[in-house]
Amino acid sequence: MYNLLKGKKGIIFGALDENSIAWKTAERVHEEGGTFVLTNAPIAMRMGQIKALAEKTGSEIVPADATNLEDLQALVEKSMEILGGKLDFVLHSIGMSVNVRKGKHYTDQNYDFTTKGWDVSAVSFHKVLQTLHKNDAMNEWGSIVALTYMAAQRTFPDYNDMADNKAYLESIARSFGYFYGKDKKVRVNTISQSPTPTTAGQGVKGFDGFIAYADMMSPLGNATAGECADYTVSLFSDLTKKVTMQNLYHDGGFSNTGVSNEVMEKFMK
Ligand SMILES: NC(=O)c1ccc[n+]([C@@H]2O[C@H](COP(=O)([O-])OP(=O)(O)OC[C@H]3O[C@@H](n4cnc5c(N)ncnc54)[C@H](O)[C@@H]3O)[C@@H](O)[C@H]2O)c1
Repeated sequence: MYNLLKGKKGIIFGALDENSIAWKTAERVHEEGGTFVLTNAPIAMRMGQIKALAEKTGSEIVPADATNLEDLQALVEKSMEILGGKLDFVLHSIGMSVNVRKGKHYTDQNYDFTTKGWDVSAVSFHKVLQTLHKNDAMNEWGSIVALTYMAAQRTFPDYNDMADNKAYLESIARSFGYFYGKDKKVRVNTISQSPTPTTAGQGVKGFDGFIAYADMMSPLGNATAGECADYTVSLFSDLTKKVTMQNLYHDGGFSNTGVSNEVMEKFMK
């Protein structure tokens, strides 16, 4: 590989199993010479196979619920202790809608579910950023990335309240990115990824049709989780130092395509 992250240290949130975007990213960051702490919600620790990833990448695991400020404070302190100093990169790869899980329609939300999903999927990003900022935990020119989806800009009916959560998440990247850039020269961006077959992705109703449609619409085809990991590595590297406060589409061109010939053919006799 290219040693793009040699000497860099960070935290990776959200590796649940080997399909997770965060899992692939951890593998790629390791290949590029980066060292990191892996974290996930305590409940996911039992379900997931994160230990295997930790062994493979020589990482330690520090459980933390990303909605809990005490957990986040302990995570940041422990990570700096384990890694021996401030951090250079953080990946927020977290999403969950209780309304989606419980089969509630967008027009019939349970607002306790809505609030919980918003906290996990969007506000947790602010909590992570605020904890890092208050602890002065990032090195100058560090890079923080969260994952999002284009339902923040355009309506995909079955994406439900996750669309609103993603719009909020992207706004946090811009707003916090301003202050983090001014104060500490730290970058904050979101990557808007193609539909990807993971646990969170497959929770969306009609996912198979959704992913096939996106693939047919995208001139380059859907971006895979592995390709998303490559892109994230580039954003963690020193090659993208002036990229901040952006929502970056990583979707094979889907977001700028009106229609493809392949999709049109389906409607022609
Ligand atoms: N899969 C897709 O189609 C797709 C497309 C675009 C963006 N994304 C985004 O990518 C990110 C990663 O999702 P994925 O597709 O790899 O699925 P995934 O299910 O593998 O990952 C989601 C992670 O969120 C974690 N999580 C949930 N609640 C948490 C909490 N309270 N504290 C800490 N962690 C918590 C889960 O344990 C899990 O590891 C999400 O933000 C998702 O919305 C996914």
